Amino acid sequence: MIIAVDGPAASGKGTLAAGLAQHYGLPHLDTGLLYRAVGLAVADGVDTPGFEAAAIAAARALDAEHLEDLASLTSADTGVLASKVAVIAEVRSALFDFQRNFATQPGGAVLDGRDIGTKICPDADVKLFIQADSKARMERRARQLEARGVEVDRYALFHQIEERDARDMLNPNGGFYQAADAHLLDTTQLGIEAALRAAIAIVDRTM
Ligand code: C5P
Repeated sequence: MIIAVDGPAASGKGTLAAGLAQHYGLPHLDTGLLYRAVGLAVADGVDTPGFEAAAIAAARALDAEHLEDLASLTSADTGVLASKVAVIAEVRSALFDFQRNFATQPGGAVLDGRDIGTKICPDADVKLFIQADSKARMERRARQLEARGVEVDRYALFHQIEERDARDMLNPNGGFYQAADAHLLDTTQLGIEAALRAAIAIVDRTM
């Protein structure tokens, strides 16, 4: 069973995907971490000439070890870097096999990202497209950061999330849209538990 979970920044898709993986006993891949690892690898050269070639080389050299430093990978700044390398077609194709191999392991998997239902696993058994309004997403991300002791400027965070969404939605190589056969789940009014129950109900109904 392959479950594809897509959605914008801070929509709760990662938490939901992890919850689904646990519920169904499947391995889980947060594909945003791959783009974040590439972004982090070229952070010093961002927006300079040669940046694209360095990002492509970093994507081709990526392996599981690069996904371990979660503290650096999950920062808000790394999210912005990730969205800058994610527009490069060769970066996306270099990361394709890693994601596809993960998805097709025996027994199945849960993957979350932007293009899982459209490009990585168009054949997924269940596709969820997670939505939540930008203000709710900003507030969730702010609380996550504050829980880690990070001081948050909510105004700046809101704009950063909106800017990243725009870059992702307009990414000509991105595939970030709701697949025709994806189920839409709006989590604006839902807590984590209620959202997970709703997601499980959709999966059970679809399988
Ligand atoms: O999901 P997360 O917010 O960690 O992703 C970071 C960035 O990586 C996204 O803003 C997007 O630009 C890129 N990404 C992508 N395709 C994916 C996953 C992430 O383009 N499947």
